[in-house]
Amino acid sequence: MEGRITIERILDIARWAPSGDNTQPWRFEIVDSDSVIVHGFDTRKDCVYDLQGRASQLSIGALLETIAIAASTYGLRVETRRRCDAPDVQPTFDIKFSSDIEIMEDPLVRFITERSVQRRRLRVRPLTLTEKQVLEASVGVHYQVKWLEGWANRFRAARLMFRNAKLRMIMPEAYQVHRRVIEWNASYSEDRIPQAALGVSAPTAWLMRWVMRSWARVEFFNTYLAGTLIPRLEMDFVPSLACAAHVVIAARKTPETIDDYILAGRSVQRFWLTATKLGLRHQPEMTPLIFAGYLKADIAFTKNENVKLFAASTAADTFELIGDDMARAVWIGRIGEGPAAKARSRRLSLETLLVSDRR
Ligand SMILES: Cc1cc2nc3c(=O)[nH]c(=O)nc-3n(C[C@H](O)[C@H](O)[C@H](O)COP(=O)(O)O)c2cc1C
Repeated sequence: MEGRITIERILDIARWAPSGDNTQPWRFEIVDSDSVIVHGFDTRKDCVYDLQGRASQLSIGALLETIAIAASTYGLRVETRRRCDAPDVQPTFDIKFSSDIEIMEDPLVRFITERSVQRRRLRVRPLTLTEKQVLEASVGVHYQVKWLEGWANRFRAARLMFRNAKLRMIMPEAYQVHRRVIEWNASYSEDRIPQAALGVSAPTAWLMRWVMRSWARVEFFNTYLAGTLIPRLEMDFVPSLACAAHVVIAARKTPETIDDYILAGRSVQRFWLTATKLGLRHQPEMTPLIFAGYLKADIAFTKNENVKLFAASTAADTFELIGDDMARAVWIGRIGEGPAAKARSRRLSLETLLVSDRR
């Protein structure tokens, strides 16, 4: 019984791992006092941002790392095995906990619940050499960190994010996702992103909400009233300039398999927790990488030909910004000193995430 309580405590902390659009693509099955099954899933069928399930796999990786960090508090070693017979769209993991006197509490444990995405302006103070070295060490030997610093690089990144945001806003497939994942008039959301965490001003949020009631309104605003301009300035251009740096995390070996992305997610979570420990804030900026990935793999992702053409030109910009690391890049974001986000996503309760035997 005591073992089960410990496992519940570990999972209760680990559920604060980040996931794309706060989808929390995992459910937990406590098998006995020292083992758990993590039932993962991806959203590639109905989310244009979950290309080949990669975003969900990164999220699940972040969850597995968080479980290991949380377990360290109890002196528990964690052994994780992915079931090879489970379909890729439902990655399933057997997790075994065992006591080990050599396991010390991971200092990152205190930052699991504090870590949160900050989509608003950050300070432009450059990162110190020590901050950069600590962050570079946090990703482990299989990954490297590339910094895009200084006004010129931040401007190049801001230009890319601004153009890429247009892609998001003119794409009917992305509209369906945005409608589903934003919780309007909210500062907190258990299963989505609350409006107040989007990084836009209240009048812009009000307008976005009104416009997004139908695709016809979105198209009308985009065509005749430059409807994407202000949201893109507020959500993409200004924050991209107002930060210390943009950061690319690249694997040393080109990631190809589901296991490669899960491993990358583990590394990203250590990076993000370490940033939080250093008092730095982070916002992933993953969509340029995702759309460039669709084009590279020649996967159709939109029925709109104009959107496809525009995507090809932003993919070229993404390549120009990231350079040779592009094929190995698993993560892009911005980073800097700043206040913690006041509005944030919360999580589904542990009770909701627990499932009974589904094998
Ligand atoms: C794989 C992945 C991709 C993400 N992509 C973006 C992104 O492109 N832009 C963004 O603002 N946030 C992005 N996020 C952040 C999530 O929206 C955020 O982690 C989630 O809503 C939970 O909120 P929290 O991190 O504040 O707890 C991403 C997170 C993950 C794990």
